[in-house]
Amino acid sequence: ATILREDYQAYPFEISKVALKFNLEPDTTRVSSTLHVKSKSVSAQDMYLHGEELELIDVSINDVPLQANDYHLDEDGLTIFNCSGNFTLSITCSNKPEINKTLMGLYRSGGHFYTQCEAEGFRRITFYPDRPDVMSEFEVTLIADKNTYPVLLSNGNLLSQEDLADGYHQAVWHDPFKKPAYLFALVAGAFDLREKTSKLADGREVLLQIYSDQGTYDQTAWALESLERSIRWDETRFNLSLDLDRFMVVAVSDFNMGAMENKGLNIFNTAYVLANPQTATDANYAGIEAVIGHEYFHNWTGNRVTCRDWFQLSLKEGLTVFREQEFSADMMSMGLTEDMAKTARAVKRIADVSLLKTHQFPEDASPMAHPIRPNSYEEISNFYTSTIYEKGAEIIRMLHTMLGEEVFQQGMKEYFRRHDGQAVTCDDFLNAMEWAYQQHQADADLTIFRRWYSQAGTPNVAVESHYDASSQQLVLTMKQRCPKVGVETLQPDVDKLPFHIPIAFALVSKDGKALPFEFNGGHYDEVLLHLTDEQQTFVFERVENDPIPSLVRNFSAPVTIDYDYTQEELMTLAAHDSDHYNRWEAVQRIVSDEIKRLYALDNLSDYDYKTVAIDPKIIDLWSRNLLDPALDAAYRSELLTLPNIKILLEQIEAVDPQRLALAYDLLECSLGYHLQKQWWSNYIELNIDTPYKVNAIEVGHRKLKNLALKQLVAIHDPKALSTAEMQFNQANNMTDRLAALSALVNYTEDSCDCLPLNKFFESYQHNPLVVDKWFALQASSPKTELQHVKGLMAHPAFNLSNPNRARSLIFQFCLNNIHGFHRPDGKSYLFWADQVLQIDEFNPEIAARLARVLDNWSHYAEPYQSLMKGALEQIAAQENTSKNLREIVNKTLHIT
Ligand code: ARG
Ligand code: ZN
Repeated sequence: ATILREDYQAYPFEISKVALKFNLEPDTTRVSSTLHVKSKSVSAQDMYLHGEELELIDVSINDVPLQANDYHLDEDGLTIFNCSGNFTLSITCSNKPEINKTLMGLYRSGGHFYTQCEAEGFRRITFYPDRPDVMSEFEVTLIADKNTYPVLLSNGNLLSQEDLADGYHQAVWHDPFKKPAYLFALVAGAFDLREKTSKLADGREVLLQIYSDQGTYDQTAWALESLERSIRWDETRFNLSLDLDRFMVVAVSDFNMGAMENKGLNIFNTAYVLANPQTATDANYAGIEAVIGHEYFHNWTGNRVTCRDWFQLSLKEGLTVFREQEFSADMMSMGLTEDMAKTARAVKRIADVSLLKTHQFPEDASPMAHPIRPNSYEEISNFYTSTIYEKGAEIIRMLHTMLGEEVFQQGMKEYFRRHDGQAVTCDDFLNAMEWAYQQHQADADLTIFRRWYSQAGTPNVAVESHYDASSQQLVLTMKQRCPKVGVETLQPDVDKLPFHIPIAFALVSKDGKALPFEFNGGHYDEVLLHLTDEQQTFVFERVENDPIPSLVRNFSAPVTIDYDYTQEELMTLAAHDSDHYNRWEAVQRIVSDEIKRLYALDNLSDYDYKTVAIDPKIIDLWSRNLLDPALDAAYRSELLTLPNIKILLEQIEAVDPQRLALAYDLLECSLGYHLQKQWWSNYIELNIDTPYKVNAIEVGHRKLKNLALKQLVAIHDPKALSTAEMQFNQANNMTDRLAALSALVNYTEDSCDCLPLNKFFESYQHNPLVVDKWFALQASSPKTELQHVKGLMAHPAFNLSNPNRARSLIFQFCLNNIHGFHRPDGKSYLFWADQVLQIDEFNPEIAARLARVLDNWSHYAEPYQSLMKGALEQIAAQENTSKNLREIVNKTLHIT
């Protein structure tokens, strides 16, 4: 059944308190709950409680057991008839953790108990109004065998712990803050614990703890440090403080997503907790810091103020991703000079925008496109999307850009003043922001801006300029366009309206200098333009030279820009734009155009990287960037990295993926070939033996060094091959070791059985996260064919039901191996369909995610397009697939 946002109705009962008692047993866990209920109306009403895959043992009101005709039970839940007044509802039921492979509700992993309740997992634990606007105070009693489960955790503060008969023990936890059921958590098992006390800004001492599997203690230091930094940062930047006496993080190896912000008891995928220099890469370190921050920041943006219903998911996710991005940017630039800090922030911005363009732009152009506040869904798990998260963060960032840091923080303060302890909507957030905006600027108005919440799609802004030298006047005309996408196409009577697009704007002279200008009577080097109509004209005065516009600086809005830049103009921006983001963007445009030029060559396959004629201006640009000592290494490696091929896949109509991959490789390798000397000088300069440290500078050095190594191995430079082998053998950290290994595997022949790969597996086979890297590296290598992937599935270390492992092999192959996946015989698509169906039998959420690989099937050339459609239709024809999977496949095929 389709759930509609407009159908929202408040729950007719309040539940002031709930007591839960768990008898934790692997096969059958018994859960007793006591709810203190108060009806909101005087007349008697039915009380609905969600419940799935549960066995109901007993239900009573005020200690009187209900009779069969007092309630109705079906596979979705329990309805209790004619409830009124104040009453105590007691329910006993049981669930089956051991056989629960959905990883929602209560489940087992590595012999321990864990829970995942967001969005609708609590209903798999016990009968309860499992909706975010029902908030209650929880007291939780956990009973389990003490030997096997010496640690018993739940939300909030530990009230008591005592031994029971027969080797059992119990712990009682109390969370003083009202919360919805989706924030409930419990954990039971035996763990390594890393902990410390930390002093808050107000002097309070809090206990910070990281729990992880036994034997992993040496991998939890970074997570604990990151947690402490998150707490400090939220205090200084947002004036928000930890509201509990203890904060726990638990790592689990079976987890559907990244992590979960359960109140005071965050549960994390091990991939976002465990790291040491020997096992984790720089990217892993950054990911851990970001996700630890993200979940911690949810304590205010998500937990203290939560969502009224799941249509408001971006209220907490978009805002928290924005906070997480700012946290990472601040951490990366901490302690640097002003100039270097600016560059470090640009590097972070580039990473965030690349991610958006790689994942969210294609989503926004697909049948699954949806506004950041959707109007309908079949299955909410399908809406934990990059639109809700990453585009949601961009919408918050636009507000931040328009209001400025100070006014934005006033808005946040007002948001908490109005809504602390409540379950609210995106509009409530916008109202608080608009209030702050208006305090600062009387005519401020977010009416048009709010359309970002109700309309989907990536707007395109076409810009034209006209310069008149005699009057020194520049006239810019901007026209925005955003055709209907996704479900919007099914609503002919809903008009799509213009967006409010803030465009950070500056002018650059032909010789690369910043050109000041007058606009609306003010003097500027940079100004924020507000495009709110379909078409608008902006007039700039006293523009001394025929200028080059620098548009949407720092990516001030999630839009695409059409402007007819000459290559010369782009080269000027690429060399001189003082906005580091836009300088990078100019380089991206230049190389994207070149890849598209190669793609269109009739005799593309006649060339190799030595013979193909690459635009010498690009080689010059690369050479200058490679040798510019003023450029920070991290930023330099961004300037020297080609756009993700998925961004290009989306930009070409009826795209032939094999041809694009060929064109892409040609350019990439020829940039290695023509700049061999320059790459070497970078490698040699940066390949210094230093102790491993994670900071912006060292990470940048490793990134550039390893990019150089990859470029040189790609052209089979014999010295590079031996250098890579040496680096693989001698590196003192995983970043360098893995970079060397992937260069060898991706660019040398017969790599699938190559010696270093075997050696790597042997050395790390006892660390699951490193084994994931081993699978992922092979799955995504252009040298890996479908047959090899099938072989790897039979490897004893492969396990389809562990999401990290499934992601490392199957998702990696389908998403990142263009050559192996997009076979003209369609066999990989059929393989994909098989895997989707197999996973769907035990974990619908992961199956539905894998199903999304073919979202944009209609953008491809034949025969790919029809073959993809055929594979989708195979899934659609299956009976008894999950509601998760059905929603994705039906939407993708436009079946309604
Ligand atoms: N709220 C979590 C986060 O973004 C995501 C949990 C979603 N869980 C799920 N099974 N869909 O931090
Ligand atoms: Zn989140």
